[in-house]
Amino acid sequence: MSGDATTGAGDARSGLDERAAARRLDDLAARIAAANRAYFQDDAPDITDAAYDALKRELLALEARFPHLVKPDSPTAQIGAEPAEGFSKITHAERMLSLANAFDAADVADFVTAIRRYLGLATDAPLSLTAEPKIDGLSLSLRYEEGRLISAATRGDGETGENVTANARTIAQIPQRIAGAPAVLEVRGEVYMSHADFAALNARQSASGGKIFANPRNAAAGSLRQLDAEITRARPLKFFAYGWGQLSAPLASTQSDAIARLAAMGFPTNPWMRRCDTLEAMLAHYAQIEDQRAMLGYDIDGVVYKIDDLALQARLGLRSTTPRWAIAHKFPAQLAWTRLEAIDIQVGRTGALSPVARLAPVTVGGVVVSNATLHNEDYIAGRDARGGPIRDGKDIRVGDWVQVYRAGDVIPKIADVDLSRRPADAQPFVFPTHCPECGSEALREEGDAVRRCTGGLICPAQAVEKLKHFVSRAAFDIEGLGARQVEAFYTDGWIKEPADIFELRAKFGSGLQQLRNREGWGEKSAQNLFDAIDDRRRIGLGRVIFALGIRHVGEVAANDLARHFTSWRAFIDCVERASLEPAAHAPDARARKPLLPQSPAWAEITGIDGIGEAVALALTSTLSQVAERASIDRLIAHLDVQAPPARASSGSPVVGLTVVFTGTLEKMTRAEAKARAESLGAKVAGSVSAKTDLLIAGPGAGSKAAKAAELGIRIIDEDGWLTLIKGIDAANGPGDG
Ligand code: IVH
Repeated sequence: MSGDATTGAGDARSGLDERAAARRLDDLAARIAAANRAYFQDDAPDITDAAYDALKRELLALEARFPHLVKPDSPTAQIGAEPAEGFSKITHAERMLSLANAFDAADVADFVTAIRRYLGLATDAPLSLTAEPKIDGLSLSLRYEEGRLISAATRGDGETGENVTANARTIAQIPQRIAGAPAVLEVRGEVYMSHADFAALNARQSASGGKIFANPRNAAAGSLRQLDAEITRARPLKFFAYGWGQLSAPLASTQSDAIARLAAMGFPTNPWMRRCDTLEAMLAHYAQIEDQRAMLGYDIDGVVYKIDDLALQARLGLRSTTPRWAIAHKFPAQLAWTRLEAIDIQVGRTGALSPVARLAPVTVGGVVVSNATLHNEDYIAGRDARGGPIRDGKDIRVGDWVQVYRAGDVIPKIADVDLSRRPADAQPFVFPTHCPECGSEALREEGDAVRRCTGGLICPAQAVEKLKHFVSRAAFDIEGLGARQVEAFYTDGWIKEPADIFELRAKFGSGLQQLRNREGWGEKSAQNLFDAIDDRRRIGLGRVIFALGIRHVGEVAANDLARHFTSWRAFIDCVERASLEPAAHAPDARARKPLLPQSPAWAEITGIDGIGEAVALALTSTLSQVAERASIDRLIAHLDVQAPPARASSGSPVVGLTVVFTGTLEKMTRAEAKARAESLGAKVAGSVSAKTDLLIAGPGAGSKAAKAAELGIRIIDEDGWLTLIKGIDAANGPGDG
């Protein structure tokens, strides 16, 4: 979309004759459709909300003046972008994961050390890893059955992706048929566009008045995710295979040999992959790749290290979103200088006041940046959380020249300020002590870097942000109900809290009269929305917990909680019990710790792998607020909350069992045993109780074994355990899924 979307915004254009009005209507419709696509399909809004609203307003005003010119497909009769008939979905046979990041050599060293510790390997025992460029494109999973390409899917949320089979078939580098492959083979890799092809594409787009892409990755994503595969065919996409998903038979016993096999089958693989036997060799190869970066002809944003031995990969296994056996070593951020034009304060869903830098637009690593985060008031003032100086104590003022950087995908940040260019009249920034949205006092708790609005549910900004979070992709993800619609519904008073979403259909009755009259809604779109909402009444526990938008409870923590509790009732009961303990509302987590060392509900929550005190405190303090809890109860009444599927548990004989490890384990470390058992659907407890199903006792087992014997609990040794879980080891072998 061209950058002049605001031209004509708010312009009454009163002098327009009918022909000019018709032309302007077409133009507006095209602009709005393009903005919708960028927003809803590409997740990359390319105009501001204000500019979008101005286009919409102008369109509505013109349609009101020339009603006979209104087209049935006018954007005022649609919600969002294309209706449901976008791409169909494909559920990945093995999840598509992302990678943990390392930002310097010390992080890489820590990664290797942690792996050695996990595997119980001495520091001098041999351990090889592969090192290869991290391609800056988008990941694609190709499924071959009996040597034929049968489907291709984007990563999506890791569980389900978009079916882009027709598009993938147009990419010359992707073989349609392969020889010498296992009956089922999922090849995973990165689709990307070379620098030369990107420049040529943009030149063609510019000549034909088409969309100009900001960088090769956007161009690759935009080209692959085309509903019309013929457009994809015309775009020069390339592919590197770097891994695999489901396999009916192993490809090899090492990562490097498996990739070599894929190369032999005809897949492009990256020539810069090396096997490294030491940390020094890994870092040297990183340096070499970084050195070559500008000459490669395509974008990379780091180096990926993977454990070479696939049996070790299998032992290391997966965390919730990343494998333990790989890490991405990112290149340092890209930098640029520009002028800070203003500092705005945004209010988030937990009430946090976040300062945002409005910048004179500047290109940083191929992307135009005009906003950056300023973190919090201390950051602006030039001090860290403990009062020590950052940027040598230099504060940031409106009018300053600031250094902006981007590291990978993250929001741009401000690294430095050039005092020699500071305007003489620049004033220190005064951080507001009241919420700019609702006027409530904004307070900073001791030990918290962030100032928060105390308005709670009365603060419209918090309410809207909570609702946006509620409908976001990893939460309820309701088709046709995105951030923009939620905002409009909130403003109109139709949705004030999540429960209201599920009452919309009933509220508006079968006539849908009011909704139909509303800007942008037709009967069909409203009906589709209600159906999409109904689809989400049945929903997984992890999504529900995440959707509540509780501080510190991200997607990973929410899923950890869901796997542990498996039902809403069990979860909320436990949180309730933990909140009822005396001092549960102590504002400071550190204050309550010595008071309640034994609280069983608290111990249960903090005993969950990955859940710490901050999460437990956020859960108890949020869910014990009367208004908040009532609002959540109203929501739950509309839902049929589903237990999470046990992970990798098909055929697992230990799914649902509570197991305890005791004594010395000889074939695996304790951490590995625990992670493996959990990945097979067992619960691992620290002590023996009547709930224990199985005790795995190694040499030196003491009181736990005695207690288990007393309680009549089944006791096996390490070999017995390994035999028990053996069959499933193979089925859950390594891979990138
Ligand atoms: S391995 C199990 N190798 O980076 C994880 N990923 O940040 C499998 N990527 O989603 C990833 N180049 O799209 C791997 N050489 C490479 C890669 C690579 C690019 C992408 C991939 C992944 C993302 C994670």
